[in-house]
Amino acid sequence: MKNQFLFSWLIFLCLNLSNIRAQNEMFYGTIETEAALKLKKLTPNDVIIISSLNGYSAIKLNEKAAEKLHHMILTHGPGFIFEKSKEQAIRTIKNHHTLRKQRKVANFSITEDQNVNRGISLVNNANIDAHIRELEAYDTRFHTTESARQSIADLRKKWKKMSRGRTDVSVRTVKHESSEMPSLIMTIKGQELPDEYVIVGGHMDTTSPQRETLAPGADDNASGIAAVTEMARVLFEMNYQPKRSIEFMAFAAEEVGLRGSREIAQDYKNRNVNVVSYVQFDMTNYKGSSSDIYLTDDTYNSSDLNSFLVSLMTHYNASGKHQFTYDYTRCNYGCSDHYSWAQQGYAAAFPFEAAFSDYNPYIHTTGDTSDKFPTPNATHAAKFTKLGIEYLIEASKSLTNSNYCSSNGRDVRNGYIQNITIGSINNSSSAQNGYQDFGSLNTDLKLNDSHNISISAKKKKEGSKEGYTVWIDYNQDSDFDDNGELVFSNVTTKSSIKGTFNIPSSAKLGKTRMRVSMKKKKVASPCESFKYGEVEDYSVTIVEARGAINIRKGVPAYNPNLNYTSGDEVIYFNSLYERTPKGWKKTSSLRTNRETDEKEIPKLVDNDRVILLSPNPIKSNSLKIKVQNELWKARQIIIYDINGNLLRKVSMKNNERNIEISSLSTGIYFISLSDTDNAYVQRLIKQ
Ligand code: BES
Ligand code: ZN
Repeated sequence: MKNQFLFSWLIFLCLNLSNIRAQNEMFYGTIETEAALKLKKLTPNDVIIISSLNGYSAIKLNEKAAEKLHHMILTHGPGFIFEKSKEQAIRTIKNHHTLRKQRKVANFSITEDQNVNRGISLVNNANIDAHIRELEAYDTRFHTTESARQSIADLRKKWKKMSRGRTDVSVRTVKHESSEMPSLIMTIKGQELPDEYVIVGGHMDTTSPQRETLAPGADDNASGIAAVTEMARVLFEMNYQPKRSIEFMAFAAEEVGLRGSREIAQDYKNRNVNVVSYVQFDMTNYKGSSSDIYLTDDTYNSSDLNSFLVSLMTHYNASGKHQFTYDYTRCNYGCSDHYSWAQQGYAAAFPFEAAFSDYNPYIHTTGDTSDKFPTPNATHAAKFTKLGIEYLIEASKSLTNSNYCSSNGRDVRNGYIQNITIGSINNSSSAQNGYQDFGSLNTDLKLNDSHNISISAKKKKEGSKEGYTVWIDYNQDSDFDDNGELVFSNVTTKSSIKGTFNIPSSAKLGKTRMRVSMKKKKVASPCESFKYGEVEDYSVTIVEARGAINIRKGVPAYNPNLNYTSGDEVIYFNSLYERTPKGWKKTSSLRTNRETDEKEIPKLVDNDRVILLSPNPIKSNSLKIKVQNELWKARQIIIYDINGNLLRKVSMKNNERNIEISSLSTGIYFISLSDTDNAYVQRLIKQ
């Protein structure tokens, strides 16, 4: 379907179309049948009902009928959607019909209290406030302007930076046919159901009477983009790894007819993408009414999804620190990007800042700025961020149970695990009922490396003795029984202990389960249900000692097997590189942390080709060592034997050097060069 038709709200229609249409010229639209019949009764000669299907009608009408409809809408809702032709109108009602049938009812439930409560307590309204100010500072983000494109490029950088070091996260810009401005999508790949998508989004573009030069759009819709960005930041801070894929979207050209979201939703539909649900954040920071969040219940929205949002707010926001209230309102027309998703048959919702009658009066003017917000510090928008986090976590889980044996403490009153810290996990928790599944918290752990785990307990009596045990399912066979899988245990009266363990080279790479138990006086067995204490499960991802390793705040090491796109950053031999359209650009040196040369090199050397040895195997005693990168000058090459004994250090003043190896007997050697976190090794065979 080539969607060129403009759908719009009646006021828009009256203002614009009446000028170019003769008063009695007929045009097409779609509308709920009930409204069509009322209209027909009211003004029989000005409306023709062409076809009706399951509650929707394709109609032909003139301005007079449109005017009448306009008054009806205000009292009766829902609105009228402009269609460019009769065929288009009929297609829309047919679509409505089939799409309604297809609409999937997602398995919405509330089970993730621990994660969600942690997430919503991490929401920082100051971040939202700062981001809104950042966005309103672009003169305009009207979709035809350079600064609109820049705002997307800058958001891309921000999102990339936030997701640094997460190999399961990608950020892509989406070009459009209907606008020069691209949209932006960030994906967190689901661990179990990567093909099912839970999506939030909002539009980046703005408008005003001086739209090409001044359109700050602080509320409409910097506030939505900032709220969505804070959702993502929190999930990253938690190191949250969803079971379903999560996507964050910033759309182009919403203000000129939902163009960006329409193309994207259409593309998802064409590719048959399984979108569980879509929630729109457009205008979140103007508290114009007495309640906090207003769920729009327009008929095109999913009532299941709205009910789910209500359940979330009832569960998480009815009282306490994160309390807020909700109510319902309606746009009565396809007022924002969620409509694009609903049009494609996906479950969509749109929680809004106020009752429709009380929305921010400054939107679409040059005065839509932060100083007009009636409440300070983006506290209103923060409520939307919390609702977004609740929705993202609860909708992105899956209900598949793990195959691991169960284990628990039956009574937590004498003591329970209060904090676990390992790698990037730092999880404080209360006791619940003696077992907690934190499998969605994950950290990378390097193979062949030693790791620390800290466990602290909350105990009733300070001196009581507890047995702490940690298992990791190294061979990923869903038990903790294999040799070496008990990685640490200790019986002690201390409330806080630290264990160190090595991950053996036989461990399987990838995500696996770690179980931590605390049992009164004794070391537990991994499948035990015992009286006093608690058990917690976590995820650890075992990664190769070299490869995708993060140094300096999580910028990933260059990985020759990945395809990089413009804007990506990597660490390569102690230096930060950014991918540009021309190639890799060195942006800074880690050591000095200052900007250095701007020279662009087309390709970084593959890990395996960093050191070249010739000949290899070698029979003679003259070995040529070549280092394939200028960064290597004045570094030391180290030669080990097969047992890891250091035999020789060779300094490289140039990237090529011949060395004499008559002292090496026949056998296998390793020639190695170390970066901050990477060791590049070549095997040498002397015959
Ligand atoms: N944020 C508004 C929509 C809005 C305004 C919702 C007031 C609720 C209350 C959005 O950016 C917008 O202006 N949408 C257009 C839709 C059109 C271009 C299809 C509109 O409302 O005119
Ligand atoms: Zn908007």
